[in-house]
Amino acid sequence: MRTEMTTNTSNSSALFGAGLFFSTSPPLYKLHRWHFPPCSPLALSSSFPPVPTMAAAAAAAAVTGTGSPHSRLLQSPSPSRRHLVRLSISCTAVTPSPLAASVAAGDRGVYNFAAGPATLPESVLLKAQSELYNYRGSGMSIMEMSHRGKEFDAVIKKAESDLRTLLSISDDFAVLFFQGGATTQFAAVPLNLCKLEDHTDYIVTGSWSDKAFKEAQKFCKPSLIWSGKAEKYTKIPSFDEIQQNPDAKYLHICGNETIHGVEFKDYPETKNQTSILVADMSSNFCSKPVDVSKFGVIYAGAQKNVGPSGVTIVIVRRDLMGDAQPITPVMLDYKTQSDHASLYNTPPCYGIYFCGLVFEDLLDQGGLEAVERKNAKKAGILYDAIDGSGGFYVCPVEKSVRSLMNVPFTLQKSELEKKFIEEAAKEGMVQLKGHRSVGGVRASIYNAMPLAGVEKLVAFLKDFQARHP
Ligand SMILES: Cc1ncc(COP(=O)(O)O)c(C=O)c1O
Repeated sequence: MRTEMTTNTSNSSALFGAGLFFSTSPPLYKLHRWHFPPCSPLALSSSFPPVPTMAAAAAAAAVTGTGSPHSRLLQSPSPSRRHLVRLSISCTAVTPSPLAASVAAGDRGVYNFAAGPATLPESVLLKAQSELYNYRGSGMSIMEMSHRGKEFDAVIKKAESDLRTLLSISDDFAVLFFQGGATTQFAAVPLNLCKLEDHTDYIVTGSWSDKAFKEAQKFCKPSLIWSGKAEKYTKIPSFDEIQQNPDAKYLHICGNETIHGVEFKDYPETKNQTSILVADMSSNFCSKPVDVSKFGVIYAGAQKNVGPSGVTIVIVRRDLMGDAQPITPVMLDYKTQSDHASLYNTPPCYGIYFCGLVFEDLLDQGGLEAVERKNAKKAGILYDAIDGSGGFYVCPVEKSVRSLMNVPFTLQKSELEKKFIEEAAKEGMVQLKGHRSVGGVRASIYNAMPLAGVEKLVAFLKDFQARHP
């Protein structure tokens, strides 16, 4: 098979990915893809390196005489090379191996079930790729430009505004972009919301809320008002059975326990009128609509549903800011960040840009109601397969609080778990190992996991069971 193309090298600043992409202005980021069946590996110029990218880049580099595909081809040509070149790439179709044929898993060859950093929407990755080298004609990548320049100003404002639209966040709340991960917020929350001697309440439904509770002990007097530890974190309490402290400054929950797969389906109300609800929503942020007005603070690390690690989003009611403990590091002070529109210091610019692209994509999908419907469908078929396995697979989490995002399960014959995970990986379903603290299997099926990925996993579950009677 022979593919020929003509390209203006001054525009072809990107020639990589699963096919050939051209960065144009305005950006057109999926101009051409390889038109081969997804499972057919290609031999380019009679070799097939791990990523077709390199072969394509090398072939093109040979034509243009630019040498290293990394260093040269992906860069804008010098003015003297601003001319049309005829690029000729020989591609030889080879017979797919049986294994490759079974890896019909999106364009990148795998479905990634990692808990975070996690799979991101393909269209967003491709858009970021097309804009990486020369962001919208600025001559710079987002990573290279001033965080106080007009381009980045537009990026961060749009990201905030799209997030406000997605979650219907009113102006009573500030939307802040932090660094330091959700773990840093375990300290920032008490530092901003109470004094050292103040009481606060924590419901511990898994490892993450437990960590939040322990960190808070340094900065206030937290009470563990409910713990699911004795039941191996498989439940969420009924709110009536929880005894809240009448003087608690806030009630902290983790909206979705990433390791244990336990998710709040509705939220407790604080008994004390002046107390507020605080939620770590790192692993179900933007997976469904949430009534933000019920909370004082919502925080979330980006790296599950909305972007790369390095960005933490904090949504905080404005009247709660401005009374941080004197020891609060300036970088953790909500008021400081709010007064400086998240630009007190250099923010994680690229991460914020990427989150912005994801927010845009979620809006394009129809918003969070539509996203939730898709997530419910994916989780539904996976839980049904587990429950319908006659005990071969077991999900320990109480049905009413099972997470739509993280599906942990074990095999009745635990000695088969390693084999299950290895064979799944060979079939293109990777990162299925349960968290090291609990073992077993965990399928994280965040927003960006396509239904096809979950269907493939379900088919594998059934096939594996049939082969191990
Ligand atoms: C629910 C939850 N909270 C907090 C964290 C900690 O996040 P980070 O690693 O961004 O500090 C995680 C990480 O996986 C998480 O899943």
